[in-house]
This record gives sequence, C-alpha cells and structure tokens, in this order.
Amino acid sequence: MLIDTYGRVATDLRVSLTDRCNLRCTYCMPEEGLQWLAKPDLLTDDEIVRLIHLAVTELGVTEVRFTGGEPLLRPGLVGIVERCAALEPRPKMSLTTNGIGLKRTAAALKTAGLDRVNVSLDTLRPDVFKTLTRRDRHQDVLDGMAAAREAGLTPVKVNAVLMPGLNADEAPDLLSWAVEHDYELRFIEQMPLDAQHGWKREGMITAGDILASLRTRFTLTEEGEQARGSAPAERWIVDGGPHRVGVIASVTRPFCAACDRTRLTADGQVRTCLFATEETDLREALRSGAPDAEIARIWKLAMWGKKAGSGLDDPSFLQPERPMSAIGG
Ligand code: 5AD
Ligand code: SF4
Repeated sequence: MLIDTYGRVATDLRVSLTDRCNLRCTYCMPEEGLQWLAKPDLLTDDEIVRLIHLAVTELGVTEVRFTGGEPLLRPGLVGIVERCAALEPRPKMSLTTNGIGLKRTAAALKTAGLDRVNVSLDTLRPDVFKTLTRRDRHQDVLDGMAAAREAGLTPVKVNAVLMPGLNADEAPDLLSWAVEHDYELRFIEQMPLDAQHGWKREGMITAGDILASLRTRFTLTEEGEQARGSAPAERWIVDGGPHRVGVIASVTRPFCAACDRTRLTADGQVRTCLFATEETDLREALRSGAPDAEIARIWKLAMWGKKAGSGLDDPSFLQPERPMSAIGG
C-alpha cells in the first residue's frame, strides 16, 4: 500500500500524459505557452502501462485519472486506456480534459474502457471563453461534452474556475445550464499553480463567494461529510435534488487530511501532492531495468514522505516549480 506517516492511504492515481495543451487558460499558462518536455523525457506508453499495472496489482491503487496538460493530445491515449482496462483488478478510469477533440474520441474511449470524463468549462459566453483561454474554441468544448454524455462517459463532470472581472458572475448561469444538460458542475477555487505566478489571494473568488452567489437563485442543502469521503469536492443538493453541485475549496477549506492521491508526471516523477516541492524519479529506475519490486519500493518511500498539508496557509508557502499543466490536475 501507499501509506504515509499520517496514516493516509493513496488509492487514487493521477497520471499526466503530456504537459502540452491547445488552450492557454490565463490561470494556468502564459500566452506563448511553456517550454514543453522533450519527447525522450516522456514516459512511453509501455512505461506508463507498466507503472499503472504495478500500482494496481502491488500498491493498492483502485482508481486512475488521466490528466495533462491536455491528455487528448497524447496519441496513444486510447491504447493506454484499453490496456489498463485489461488489468486485474481493473481500476476505475476517468479523464480530465478541456473537451477539445472529445467529440471525435468519446466513443473510442468508452469502447476502450474509460468510465467517465471531467471537462473544464469556465463560461457559457464564447467571448469570455476566448479571453479566458485565448482560443476561440467554445463550441468545440460544448460539442465534446455532449459527445461524452452520448457515449456514456457519465456522469460528465464539469470543472469551472471563476476569475474576478471575467466570469465571476456566472456561477448561477453555469449551474442552471449544467442542471438542464445533466452535467455535474464543480467549482474549483483558483490555486497558485500558474506558470506566471500571477495568483493573488486578495480578490480570488472563494467557496464562500460561490455559494452566496448560487444561493441567490437556488436552494442548496449540504450533502454531509459522509457522502464526501476523500473526494475533494464538497457537494450540495440543488433545489431538493436530484442534481448536485460541488465546490473544491483547496485554498479556503483544504481537505488534505482525507487526501488519497498519488501523482505521476508525464516524465515519470512521483508527486505526493499538487503543492509538493519535491519529486521522486521513477523513470531512471524503469530505464535502468529495475524490477517491479524496486520501483514499488521507491514509490512507497516517496509516499511515506507525504506532507500533512499543502502549506498554502503557511506564510513561508512557496509555489511548486512545476505549473499545474506539468503536474496534472
Ligand atoms: N487553479 C484552479 N484550477 C485550475 N485548473 C488549472 N489550473 C488551475 C488553477 N491554477 C483546473 C482546470 C481543470 C482542472 C484540471 O484544474 O481548469 O479543470
Ligand atoms: Fe490547458 Fe487545462 Fe491549462 Fe487550460 S487549464 S491551459 S485547458 S492545461
């Protein structure tokens, strides 16, 4: 098992398949993009499948989430999903995507064995989408989400980040729209993980702000701690149900004590947390011919050193060197 000194057990593995992206969300990347990882530094499809196999069979991982950058940009994605679906025990598998290209791939991903998708969408207004992501692809995202729902990659969860002065007023509209289309909406507080280090605590839209804004139009009933488990989203029942809305308040209501995540970057580094400042290299071990038992030992040791919390509230907090796009959401 991947257990740490606080007794938390990591059963949820987030695998970043690429650090590249076809959008440039202002809270994530600068306009010109970033210095992408070089191809030889990326884990190959075989290496990724080997690590997931190990995680599932030896380390107690039960859930795998593929992330990026934008994971649909990884040519081998469908094949990776298919091979992971054949593992015993079969992990639950989901994908976090910006939705571009999902229209084309949703059915193949479902057939390969993917269970669900999370699609990022911050606004219902095409012009605001263009300002926020610096690309004019709003309709592609909407089409991708609809295709995912039709392919049965459900529930389709929608991630929204609210930014002051851009889409901060859209929470109720987004929720009305999500309820109407049967998507499960979750708001994510903006986190200090952007490459440009532009995050400021003052002025950020908090979970409190979001809930207050939603309550101007909806009746929200708390779902309760038990239903939440180790899920980062706190959930509320909307107008008596059956729809729900979630808020991931990493900044103002951190959930580190219940964290069950372990992360793998596209270049084969284990990260114990989004906000960790240290990483542990598995790629070198893989490429030097280490047996599974040795790789498992390194991974376990890395997780044993997982810190109690993100440190966001500590005055000495330092933003990790890697931006979100290179860690995986
Ligand atoms: N803060 C909060 N959420 C972010 N995401 C990307 N960068 C940030 C950030 N700095 C979101 C994306 C996506 C998910 C993986 O994380 O919008 O939905
Ligand atoms: Fe791409 Fe996601 Fe970053 Fe937006 S937040 S630029 S979709 S990686």
